[in-house]
Amino acid sequence: MLNGVMHSLRRKTPPFGTPEPPVAVMKHAGSYIRKRGSFPAFVVLAMVVVFALVVYGEDFRSLSRRRTSEEYPPADISDRRRLSDPQSRHPREMIKTTEEEEVPKVHEFPITVDGTGAGDVNVTAPVQEVPLAVDNAATAVANVTAAAAIDGVVIAVPETCDLSRGEWVYDDVNYPLYREEQCEFLSTQVSCLKNGRKEDMYQKWRWQPKDCSLPKFDAKLLLERLRGKRLMFVGDSLNRNQWESMVCMVQSAIPPGKKGRKWDGSRISFIAEEYNATVEFYWAPFLVESNSDDPRIHSVVDRIIKADSIEKHAEHWKGVDFLVFNTYIWWMNTLKMKVLRSSARNWTEYEEIARPQAYERVLKTWSNWLDENVDPRRTSVFFMSVSPLHFRSSDWGNPNGIKCAMETLPLTNMTGIFLGTDMRMFERAKKAAQSTSRVPIAFVDITTMSELRKDAHTSVHTTRQGAVMSPEQQADPAKYADCLHWCVPGVPDVWNQILYAKIVSSGAGSRSQ
Ligand SMILES: *[C@@H]1O[C@H](CO)[C@@H](O)[C@H](O)[C@H]1NC(C)=O
Ligand SMILES: *[C@@H]1O[C@H](CO)[C@@H](O)[C@H](O)[C@H]1NC(C)=O
Ligand SMILES: *[C@@H]1O[C@H](CO)[C@@H](O)[C@H](O)[C@H]1NC(C)=O
Ligand SMILES: *[C@@H]1O[C@H](CO)[C@@H](O)[C@H](O)[C@H]1NC(C)=O
Ligand SMILES: *[C@@H]1O[C@H](CO)[C@@H](O)[C@H](O)[C@H]1NC(C)=O
Repeated sequence: MLNGVMHSLRRKTPPFGTPEPPVAVMKHAGSYIRKRGSFPAFVVLAMVVVFALVVYGEDFRSLSRRRTSEEYPPADISDRRRLSDPQSRHPREMIKTTEEEEVPKVHEFPITVDGTGAGDVNVTAPVQEVPLAVDNAATAVANVTAAAAIDGVVIAVPETCDLSRGEWVYDDVNYPLYREEQCEFLSTQVSCLKNGRKEDMYQKWRWQPKDCSLPKFDAKLLLERLRGKRLMFVGDSLNRNQWESMVCMVQSAIPPGKKGRKWDGSRISFIAEEYNATVEFYWAPFLVESNSDDPRIHSVVDRIIKADSIEKHAEHWKGVDFLVFNTYIWWMNTLKMKVLRSSARNWTEYEEIARPQAYERVLKTWSNWLDENVDPRRTSVFFMSVSPLHFRSSDWGNPNGIKCAMETLPLTNMTGIFLGTDMRMFERAKKAAQSTSRVPIAFVDITTMSELRKDAHTSVHTTRQGAVMSPEQQADPAKYADCLHWCVPGVPDVWNQILYAKIVSSGAGSRSQ
């Protein structure tokens, strides 16, 4: 399969001699290159891996399906073809299309909210009983009043403590924070145990920062902090992965009938009725406008962005109290990004710009928008760093592995290991987060800690084109394993614990880390 795709890619893509060598990749890949002998081969291989996983990994639909047919905008099918087996096709044709509707198992309120508030949710409709999964510490402080929760409780994470440096410690007493089957809002895509994963060790690791500890997660405390507020994740499917985790983390503290979920264009909102709070996800894989913006039909291979146009999405971010952004994986299937010319009249008039430069330009558009439109006294802004991939087991010295599929333990030491993470993107995002003049952006570094977690991806215990992978697909991880998204409960819970620490502590939105 790899050969097939590589062959196709060779035919498809411009010669690799012309683009400037990716500096950071070069630097990190030094040893790899020495071993392999040739840089272009490395780049081709990395691209093939990333390309393949992006094409097969993105699957927004399982979450974004809406309920009635009139809610579906007519799909533009002129350039999208239904494929039975995309792997056998030329990359240009590897475009996924809509899948059958999966009726959400979760109760949904007949909601009339327009996004400005969640107060008018109808919660009289019956809901199924859901076992609560509040952890011990959460119950201990569950009775604090709203005022006390916000003003009286101090979550002590010293500003000087770098939460991104530390180690994973096995802790089956405190983890997982909740169980898969206790979170009715969890999508099948990330419910790895339900999809047949046999061991659950990946759920039981605590992140132990080197110089301090993460505060114990307290769902009620977070909900108090979110009272009358909106928390919104904006970005790609990795941010959706994190949003799902966050929903599961808070939902356990809300009794049945007082919580729900609604779909609304590019947005999914989890609603905590008693708190008048929402935890939302907004699909914008490049942050700026692109031809991949359809929340359901977006797996286009020829990705084209409008690097300077963000308003179409950003108008939905106005007035949100906590904004959590990311963008990475959608950039990774070509060395150059197709950027629409300012004079363009349709999606065919673009120029190709080296990935880091295009990324920088987009982040500039993004940070300018924040500076001009966000009130820093009200809104806290976060940017999640690169979520890494584990697509080549030889990267971590397991030549007999199959992608991430055979891994059950985290790595303990990244020294000498290079997974292909494009640190140029990391650095540019970090710089962009420091570039605003008015609005502080907290850059949340989850990259290295997540690089250690080769054991925690959904692998073959996930969905493909809307359905749980078949036994045949599960038996063929070399072809099907998704080593990009993460099982939930799992690693995204820890990202959220970091977010939690920042939101609940007074320093939310400050330019720490
Ligand atoms: C709320 O939902 C219930 C049950 O579906 C329905 O009977 C009731 O009329 C609804 N109330 C409002 C205000 O929409
Ligand atoms: C919370 O407070 C109520 C009444 O104020 C009390 O009955 C209940 O036992 C308390 N719960 C806990 C967990 O302390
Ligand atoms: C609910 O929260 C929204 C913001 O998300 C706010 O605009 C609205 O006033 C709140 N409603 C109530 C009744 O507090
Ligand atoms: C896009 O615009 C160009 C230049 O105006 C034109 O030649 C081309 O036919 C257009 N393509 C489509 C699909 O409309
Ligand atoms: C990680 O591995 C490197 C090289 O193998 C070694 O020098 C270093 O001490 C290790 N670090 C830890 C924390 O074990």
